Amino acid sequence: MTLFASIPIIAAALALQSCGGVGGPQTDTGGLPSVTQQFLALLGVDQKSATYIGADACAGCHGGKNPDDPIYAHWKDTVHAEKGVTCERCHGPGSAHQAAPSKENILTFPKSHSPVVCAQCHGPTHDQYNFSQHSKLIVDPVEEAILNPNQYGRNSRCISCHSGLFATEIVAKGVDVAAMTDDEIKHIAEATLTTVPHSASCVTCHNPHKKTGNLTDSGKEVMLRNKTFNSDTTDVGPGTTAQQFTNFDHGCAKCHNGRGTNPADARLQASTARPSMHDSNQYNMLMGFGGVEGTGPVQRNTAHANAPGQCSKCHMPDSRHTFTVSFDKGCAPCHSAADAAARTGQVKSEVLGLLTSLRGRMEAWAAANLGDADFWDYTSVIQGEGKTPPNQANVPIEIKRARHNYYFIIRSGDYGVHNAPYAKHLVTVANTNLDALNAPRPAAPNMSAEQQLRVIEEHRKRANQAEMNLPEDN
Ligand code: HEC
Ligand code: HEC
Ligand code: HEC
Ligand code: HEC
Ligand code: HEC
Ligand code: HEC
Ligand code: HEC
Ligand code: HEC
Repeated sequence: MTLFASIPIIAAALALQSCGGVGGPQTDTGGLPSVTQQFLALLGVDQKSATYIGADACAGCHGGKNPDDPIYAHWKDTVHAEKGVTCERCHGPGSAHQAAPSKENILTFPKSHSPVVCAQCHGPTHDQYNFSQHSKLIVDPVEEAILNPNQYGRNSRCISCHSGLFATEIVAKGVDVAAMTDDEIKHIAEATLTTVPHSASCVTCHNPHKKTGNLTDSGKEVMLRNKTFNSDTTDVGPGTTAQQFTNFDHGCAKCHNGRGTNPADARLQASTARPSMHDSNQYNMLMGFGGVEGTGPVQRNTAHANAPGQCSKCHMPDSRHTFTVSFDKGCAPCHSAADAAARTGQVKSEVLGLLTSLRGRMEAWAAANLGDADFWDYTSVIQGEGKTPPNQANVPIEIKRARHNYYFIIRSGDYGVHNAPYAKHLVTVANTNLDALNAPRPAAPNMSAEQQLRVIEEHRKRANQAEMNLPEDN
């Protein structure tokens, strides 16, 4: 039975293979790669015996006549259509579905979001992606959305950035999260854990059906859902809501933003429980906003902020999907690879030294004034150490400003590379605040940059653990 049922799929796959590459130059393989076993494994039982009907057969129902469902018309305009990548290459054979349309007999949510669909033909890109952190999942926030959908799935919207599935199905499609039932939120979170366990999958960043006009830094249309460059920071500025900052129109910064972190004194006084930004504030650091800036002029590296492609310029040269920085390709034409590597090493060790000294000053002040070297810190982090934190009313605003800047820099994780002048400026402002308290300046500890990095990363990790104990608080 099984053998018999699978025959039509194989036959159709061979047929596709032989007509692949129509309309364009042949690739090395001479046409489209064949359907993979991993892809076939995604298909449900009701679809296993179906046969291929061709894209035009889908058009009648998913065509362009109904303005709510113009998928065929959009697809027709893509490189995929031109190269013969039909609906059924991504959704599986459609004869059973055509005869009796249902979600059971066509590949759809959640399995259609699997990178396995794209890996059929984009093998090398998929390999790079598999190496990247985006193919992994930080499980805690997703589990929290299941256990407590009202708090973690709705109010804090952790899974807007921690579930590629949620980012695609809910955020990108403009679903009103407030109107979702708890069960709907749980359903997506569960599908994330069991079926598409990725922080971002291919279709989190790419629209599978249409040209979007959001071009790469070299002006290419690659069906990106969001812009690669956006210098209007309003939607992620101080105090913005989750509704706003998770909808930010930027392919990376819709997730890599500081979640409306607010450095105003009033906010720092009120929000004493946890660092008011997140590990995700790389866009804020790049653009230079979100730290306590003091009263004087502020220095920012506008060249990095204004590089075409912004994040993708340095992290995705040649469309590399590991998302790791490339000194040779990513920094051209502004730096040579050697210059970029040398500057990165130099800036990182300088900033790590500044941060280590800054923490030393806060610790010395807290030991002398509050009786414990840890008591400059946020309550949530100290509680993790099993200590009873002091009343935050006894922590002066100068300390609160300094620790905001300390966390702002360490949580961006680049230690000054994104925006060296801004990172250094924030340390200076922190120190000016500590001067006003006459905080001592203990001698710099005798540590290498590697040792300093280890201590600071440990601190960053503690703040992340504390994150799990409290609801989001802009
Ligand atoms: C006879 C009309 C008809 C044809 C032909 C048809 N579909 Fe559908 N399709 C539907 C209807 C109606 C639904 C909604 C089913 C439901 O909600 O239970 C649907 C649902 C879907 C879904 C799931 C959407 C969702 O919300 O989860 C996908 C994917 C899909 N179709 C793809 C295709 C593809 C690919 C083809 C061509 C191979 C095709 N359809 C051909 C009518 C059709
Ligand atoms: C390159 C792969 C690919 C091709 C080609 C493709 N799709 Fe899809 N389709 C997907 C993926 C992935 C999703 C789920 C993500 C999304 O909705 O953006 C999807 C979603 C859908 C949905 C559900 C839409 C919704 O809003 O919930 C329908 C219906 C659909 N596709 C029909 C089609 C039809 C009809 C064609 C051909 C005209 C087609 N697709 C071509 C990959 C593809
Ligand atoms: C059946 C093979 C096949 C599948 C499946 C497939 N693609 Fe493609 N894709 C192609 C081919 C062929 C091209 C054209 C590449 C070229 O000419 O260099 C292409 C091009 C692209 C491009 C570049 C578009 C452009 O204008 O140059 C993107 C982005 C892309 N695919 C994303 C996806 C994603 C995301 C998926 C999964 C949802 C997917 N593809 C599934 C074969 C496929
Ligand atoms: C605006 C998007 C966004 C939101 C909302 C968000 N996060 Fe994150 N989070 C990220 C990004 C991006 C990273 C990874 C940063 C990196 O690797 O440098 C991250 C990292 C983390 C980490 C660190 C994991 C580790 O140990 O390395 C934890 C834990 C975490 N998030 C939990 C949460 C929780 C809990 C919530 C909800 C209260 C939440 N996040 C909301 C974007 C977000
Ligand atoms: C985090 C977002 C993100 C994810 C995840 C992602 N991409 Fe991309 N992709 C991009 C961006 C941004 C570009 C354009 C980069 C550039 O060249 O500037 C791109 C470019 C591409 C291109 C065009 C390559 C070229 O040479 O023109 C293809 C094809 C592609 N992606 C396929 C995929 C596939 C397949 C997956 C999943 C295995 C995937 N992408 C996952 C963001 C993403
Ligand atoms: C849907 C949300 C989302 C989008 C969009 C997104 N990221 Fe991420 N990114 C994450 C999360 C979450 C992590 C942490 C994943 C983990 O550690 O398992 C991460 C990790 C990373 C890391 C690795 C950091 C480390 O700890 O080593 C880099 C680099 C990165 N992202 C860059 C980018 C770039 C560049 C883009 C845009 C092309 C982008 N991201 C788009 C959510 C996202
Ligand atoms: C000017 C080039 C450049 C730009 C633009 C850039 N980055 Fe980076 N990024 C780097 C370098 C270099 C590092 C440090 C790599 C190292 O540690 O050696 C880095 C580090 C990171 C890290 C790693 C932090 C960690 O946890 O290890 C993340 C995440 C990241 N960048 C995301 C982004 C995002 C998101 C954007 C856009 C908002 C962006 N970057 C823009 C060059 C850049
Ligand atoms: C669009 C041009 C451009 C690109 C691309 C670019 N940079 Fe820069 N970068 C600059 C400029 C301009 C400065 C400021 C130069 C100065 O003040 O001496 C700078 C400064 C730096 C600094 C700080 C130096 C210091 O002493 O303050 C580092 C580190 C750095 N870049 C690393 C990188 C890396 C790594 C990449 C690639 C991954 C990169 N840059 C890509 C233009 C660029």
